[in-house]
Amino acid sequence: MSSGEMRAVVTGAGAGLGRELVSMFAARGVAVAMVDRDAAGLEATRGGLPPAARTLSIVQDLTAEGAGEAIIGQVGAAWGGLDILVNNAGYGAIEPFFEMSAGLWNRTLAINVVALVMLSRAAGEAMKRSGGGRIVNITSPASRMALPNYAAYAASKAAVDSITRTSAIALAPFGITVNSVSPGMMDTEMQRVTERALARAEGREDFEEFIAERTRRAPLGRRAGIDEVAAAVIWLALDAPAYITAERLNASGGMDRD
Ligand SMILES: NC(=O)c1ccc[n+]([C@@H]2O[C@H](COP(=O)([O-])OP(=O)(O)OC[C@H]3O[C@@H](n4cnc5c(N)ncnc54)[C@H](O)[C@@H]3O)[C@@H](O)[C@H]2O)c1
Repeated sequence: MSSGEMRAVVTGAGAGLGRELVSMFAARGVAVAMVDRDAAGLEATRGGLPPAARTLSIVQDLTAEGAGEAIIGQVGAAWGGLDILVNNAGYGAIEPFFEMSAGLWNRTLAINVVALVMLSRAAGEAMKRSGGGRIVNITSPASRMALPNYAAYAASKAAVDSITRTSAIALAPFGITVNSVSPGMMDTEMQRVTERALARAEGREDFEEFIAERTRRAPLGRRAGIDEVAAAVIWLALDAPAYITAERLNASGGMDRD
């Protein structure tokens, strides 16, 4: 199948990495269903695309009951099925260890883990019916770090690594591959908000020096371009050999060492 006949679902398509992914899929002729709870964000993503790009905007809170089935149902009704799912939407907030709350843990796990699992199950059903597909999950170097101010996020991404392995095995008999990408620090809205809060939690007032120190932690000595991370996802979704599954692709400038 050429990329021009493919149909993809990208979650968190209203900002950051998701927006870049939509643009790269559209440039390859892939039809993209863009999912986000932020309607204005989705409009801005659509506005950046050539008019001929085939897209579907789905304004949906991924943590709502039945969201996974509803999304795959809408894509099926519009395009008859799907070939690619990118579970990109994510959430993380800084909360010092001794101030941890059930509220933040529940919010983080609801979007980063439970929503990803439910959408993967619904997409897996649809891909099984059509004879195959590819799922790419977005994890983080945080999944393997001990981060006392960011514990819920780190644990949620460790769960993403786990479910990537599990779903790769569950879906392999149906010709569906499941892989993940671990991005380095990209200067998206999420990253900016997180680092401001982290500087406060660590009592740092020299924000620019704090940011520079964090950037130096990446062995390549710079932050990731959103396009560089998106290119790794696109490769797994469209170009990687079909025999690659259960892989965690490190696109973190050497922060992760797989
Ligand atoms: N930015 C980084 O440096 C970095 C590093 C490692 C991993 N990541 C991961 O990359 C992915 C994308 O991050 P980003 O930096 O582009 O984030 P972002 O915050 O810029 O964009 C995330 C998008 O997801 C949407 N979203 C969040 N919760 C949702 C929900 N419940 N329902 C529907 N949509 C929802 C938001 O509205 C937003 O448009 C995330 O999984 C994140 O954890 C980011």
